[in-house]
Amino acid sequence: MDLAAIRRTYRRYAGHYDMVFGPVFHPGRRMAVETANQRPGRRILEVGVGTGLSLPLYRKDIQVTGIDISPEMLAKAREKVAEQQLENVEALLEMDAEALEFEDNSFDVVVAMYVASVVPNPDRLMAEMRRVCVPDGEILIINHFASENPVLRGLERTLKPLSKMLGFHPDMALDALPDEPDCPRVGVHRANIFGYWKLVHYRNGPAANGADVVDSQVGPD
Ligand SMILES: C[S@@+](CC[C@H](N)C(=O)[O-])C[C@H]1O[C@@H](n2cnc3c(N)ncnc32)[C@H](O)[C@@H]1O
Repeated sequence: MDLAAIRRTYRRYAGHYDMVFGPVFHPGRRMAVETANQRPGRRILEVGVGTGLSLPLYRKDIQVTGIDISPEMLAKAREKVAEQQLENVEALLEMDAEALEFEDNSFDVVVAMYVASVVPNPDRLMAEMRRVCVPDGEILIINHFASENPVLRGLERTLKPLSKMLGFHPDMALDALPDEPDCPRVGVHRANIFGYWKLVHYRNGPAANGADVVDSQVGPD
């Protein structure tokens, strides 16, 4: 899917997104934000912030910036920020997650919820998330990954030709995301009771740095 197709899809979704994708995605949002909220005073970037459903969950002493490629989704997020007086939301900007307009090492935590299987190049998304994240910072991805169950896997393959219409790739493998010595996964957790969505937790730096990022998620693996 190219950026124009993504913009078109989310222009269509924006008006009813919260009703359709609000509750079903919320356990994952809560799980990611709980992890981000573990320390005070952090600067957080949320890529693909969408209509901003996660924004009220961040603790108030954390500064949050959100970016998204869809102006219509961002407009909904801005409404929430105004209505709920979310003063810790620093900025909501129209931007491509694969070409972030921030300096290197700008954020303590970089989060992408339900975005990795939407962007055209997950590798570039990850590379950009790492670039703008401080060394030893945290990167949190919530996403559905291709099922290991053969029946579900078959269904996901059947849905693949509909990716453009759905607005995401239903069969993205967990291995499409890197797991490298200088950006190791410190945890992969089920984000809802069926484990359909998972939280993938990275530390942005080699373990040998002695970083103190601890994966203390309590959700079931
Ligand atoms: C499934 S929605 C998830 C929205 C939100 N994170 C949530 O939890 O509801 C995917 C979002 O990613 C955005 N998106 C897709 N590709 C993008 C890109 N290359 N750069 C920035 N945002 C993108 C879409 O516009 C959409 O708002």
